[in-house]
Order: sequence, then C-alpha cells, then structure tokens
Amino acid sequence: MRRALVTGGAAGIGAATVRRLVGEGKAVTFIDLDSVAGEALAQETGARFAALDGMDLGAVAEFLAGEDFDILVSNIGADQHAFFTGTGPADWQRLLSVNLQTAFAFCHGVLPGMQARGWGRIVLVSSEAGRLGSKGGAVYAAAKAGLLGFGRSLARENARYGITVNAVLPGPVHTPMVERAVAEVGAKILDDMARLTLLRRLGRPEEIAAAIAFFCSEDAGFITGEALGVSGGMGCGA
Ligand SMILES: NC(=O)c1ccc[n+]([C@@H]2O[C@H](COP(=O)([O-])OP(=O)(O)OC[C@H]3O[C@@H](n4cnc5c(N)ncnc54)[C@H](O)[C@@H]3O)[C@@H](O)[C@H]2O)c1
Repeated sequence: MRRALVTGGAAGIGAATVRRLVGEGKAVTFIDLDSVAGEALAQETGARFAALDGMDLGAVAEFLAGEDFDILVSNIGADQHAFFTGTGPADWQRLLSVNLQTAFAFCHGVLPGMQARGWGRIVLVSSEAGRLGSKGGAVYAAAKAGLLGFGRSLARENARYGITVNAVLPGPVHTPMVERAVAEVGAKILDDMARLTLLRRLGRPEEIAAAIAFFCSEDAGFITGEALGVSGGMGCGA
C-alpha cells in the first residue's frame, strides 16, 4: 500500500486530498498547525494526523527522519491581500516561508527514501497566480512561481529514480483561505474571482484533489515536470 503525506491537510484543498487518497486505499498521514480540525479529520477518515508547523524547519526534519513516504502532496500555503507597495520585508519573509520553504523542507525530507526505493510521486500545490500574476498578491505569486521552477528542477534530478514531480495550479476555490479573503476585503471578491474564470465560478476543493490524486497515481507514471491549471480556464485569459 502506497504511503502518502499531505501537508496542510486539515482544511480546504488539503482535507479534500486526504479524503480522496484515503478513498483510493492509500495509507495517508497528514500534518497541520490546526490540531482541532486535524484530529476531527483523522477521526472521520482513519488517516493519521500529526500536529506540526511546516515553517519550523527543524521540527519538519525531525518528524520526517523517522518516516517513509511514497507520495508527498506539498499543499501548505497562505496569501495576503495588499498591493506590493503596502507590504514589507516581514510579509515577504512570511509568504516565502509558508508557500515555498515548506515545500523545500518536506521534499528534502522525503526524497532520499523515495530515491532508495526507486519510486515516488511529489505534487506541489502552486497557484494560477504563479504564472499569471496576482493584483494584490505579488509576493504570493512570486512564491508560487518559485514552486514551478523548484518542481521542474526536482523532476530533472529525480527522473532516474522513478520519481515524478508535478505541480497543480488551482484557480479560486471555496476554502477557508477564500473565506478569510472575504472577511478581509468583502464578499465582492467572490464575484471578482469567479469572473477571472471561463466557467464563471469558484472551484470546489474536491475538484483540485482529483487532479492531485491523478498525479499521485500509477497511471500518471509518464508525466513529470508538468504544471496543470485546475482553474475553470483561468489560464486561457478569461
Ligand atoms: N483556495 C484558493 O482559492 C487557492 C487558489 C490557488 C492556490 N491555492 C493553494 O492551495 C493550497 C491550499 O489552499 P486552501 O485554500 O485549502 O488553504 P486553507 O487556508 O483553506 O487551508 C490550508 C491549511 O494549511 C494549514 N497550514 C497553514 N500554514 C501551515 C503551517 N505553517 N504548517 C502546517 N499547516 C499549515 C492550515 O492550518 C490549513 O488547514 C495553498 O497552497 C494555497 O496557496 C488555493
């Protein structure tokens, strides 16, 4: 049975991915900052939960030292809604840390084991902001674009070990992250987000999880270094 690790798995896209991979019969572990939601999802799904801050690089290394995973879904992320000129170094550091450095830490910890066993799947949850840019999310977009270069590099380095590395780029998806944006800037943002897509709606977390699960599957074994928009056609320039 393939062992999967989902980061930021207690809510939103991560939680939908946990449910999906458990449903496919994988042995799923997920980590999250939120131990209340994490314990509840573990109870519901039978997945294993560990409370962990993905930005604590020492704690991540310590956690992964005793573990073996065949599949990593690096999903932790957070955004901010402010024009770039309204942000400062503390924001830049936080956004790069939560969106980019967490992926470094988890990939660094799981890759040696995958290499030794000659099989692995890594899925990086990026964003359409990473290739289209985002008004009010410049540093977030930079971090998400960074994931694309990082993933393609890992794909090049690890193909020889039977490890694939791909990125999923969600468009706007109804999750607690979007609820926070509504609380911050008002409900109008939901219409603005829907208008960015050809399908004129927000996505559901399950729709992103389906794409993630495909990249994790045996069927996706000939796909690596790719970036798939799951964004209602946002990438076409709606
Ligand atoms: N929702 C969207 O519209 C959207 C669009 C594009 C990309 N994404 C990306 O998808 C991913 C998931 O987004 P979401 O909307 O489900 O987010 P969310 O905020 O709804 O859920 C994220 C989960 O990650 C956890 N988390 C955050 N920081 C953490 C940390 N340092 N350590 C451990 N856990 C942490 C949170 O507790 C939460 O459970 C993110 O990388 C996000 O950038 C989301």
